[in-house]
Amino acid sequence: MALRDCLLISFLAISAMAQLSSASLKAGYYQSICPAAENIVRHTVNKAIARNPGLGAGLIRMHFHDCFVRGCDASVLLDSTAENPSEKQHPANNPSLQGFEVIDEAKAIVEAHCPSIVSCSDILAFAARDSAFNLGRIYYTVPAGRRDGRVSIEDEVSQNLPRPTSNAQELEKNFLQKGLSLDEMVTLSGAHSIGVSHCSSFSTRLYSFNATHPQDPSMDRAFVAYLKTRCPRPSNAKSNTDPTVPLEVGTPNRLDNTYYKTLRHHKGLLTSDQTLFTSPSTAKLVRKNTKHNSEWGMKFAAAMVRMGSIDVLTGTQGEIRKNCRVVNW
Ligand code: HEM
Ligand SMILES: *[C@@H]1O[C@H](CO)[C@@H](O)[C@H](O)[C@H]1NC(C)=O
Repeated sequence: MALRDCLLISFLAISAMAQLSSASLKAGYYQSICPAAENIVRHTVNKAIARNPGLGAGLIRMHFHDCFVRGCDASVLLDSTAENPSEKQHPANNPSLQGFEVIDEAKAIVEAHCPSIVSCSDILAFAARDSAFNLGRIYYTVPAGRRDGRVSIEDEVSQNLPRPTSNAQELEKNFLQKGLSLDEMVTLSGAHSIGVSHCSSFSTRLYSFNATHPQDPSMDRAFVAYLKTRCPRPSNAKSNTDPTVPLEVGTPNRLDNTYYKTLRHHKGLLTSDQTLFTSPSTAKLVRKNTKHNSEWGMKFAAAMVRMGSIDVLTGTQGEIRKNCRVVNW
C-alpha cells in the first residue's frame, strides 16, 4: 500500500474516534484561581466513603459513564427536565449510579470559596481519583480545565456505554471508539474490584443462558449456586426486587488486582468480566495483571488520566455550571 493511502486510512480512523485532549488540560489548573478546590473535593469524598465505602465505587463509575457519553463534560450529572430525559434516566444509570450527593456537596463548598470557577466535570474527575486513592492507595495527578456541557440525552447512553453482556471483541471496539487501547480496556475493567452489581445485570448467566445451557458454562458451578441464593429467578412473580452482590467476591472495598485472580477462577460476575479471561486476545493481559498489584495500579492510574481526557470541553466551550444538576440560565 502506498504511504499516502496508509496515512489517509489512519487519518480517517483517527477522525472517527474520540478526541483524547490531555494536552489542553493542565495539572494544578486551580492552583492560582481556586487553590482550595482539590482539597475540598478530597475532604468531601473521604468523609462520604467513611460513611459508606460504596460511594467510592459509585464515583469512579460515574466518571467513566460521564466520559464515555459526550466526553467528560458532566453530562451525566444533569437532571432530566420536562422536555428532556437526560443520561441519568437511562437504565444503565438509573437506579444503580450513586454518589450524586457527594458531588453536590463538594460543589456547594467549592462555590462558596470561589464562585463559577471550578467545573462539575473537574470535580467529578478529582472525586474519582480521590476514591481510587482512598480504596486502593492508587494516586495520580488529574490534569484539569474541563468545562461543563449543556446537553444530556438519555438515548445516547446505550450507543456509547459497553454492555455487561458484551464479549471481548465488542468491548475492544467500544473502547477503541473512545481512543482507549485493548490493554487500557482490560486495565480499567479492574475497577470491578470494588462495588456491587444488581442481579438483573447478570441473571441470564444463572437462569437462562441459551437453548442447551441453562447456566453459563464459563462460570464456576459453586459460584453459580451461591449467586442463585442471592438472586431470585427473574420470572418469579414475587421478585420485584433486584438485590445487589459484590462485583468481586474477595475484597469488595479494596481496589486491587484480586479481580483478575477471580477471573482465572471463573468467578467473574458479568459476562463482560469473564470474557476477558475466556477470550485469547485478553487472557494474557489478565494473567499479567494478576502478577503485580503495583504495576496494575500504575497502569490503572495512567488509564484513568487518559479516560478523563476523552472529548473534553476547554477554553470558551461549554460553561462552568453553578449547580451540577442544571445548566446555567
Ligand atoms: C468494560 C466494560 C464495562 C461494563 C460492561 C461495565 C458494566 C457494569 C455493570 C453492569 C455494573 C453493575 C451495575 C448494577 O447493576 O448495579 C458495573 C458496576 C461498576 N463499574 Fe463497570 N463496566 C465496565 C467498565 C467499567 C470501567 C471502565 C469502570 C471505571 C474505571 C467501571 C467501574 C465500575 C464500578 C466502580 C462499579 C460498581 C459501582 C457501585 O458499586 O456503585 N466499570 N459496571
Ligand atoms: C450455548 O453456549 C455454549 C457455551 O458458550 C455453546 O457451546 C453452545 O453452542 C450454545 N448453544 C446454543 C444453542 O447457542
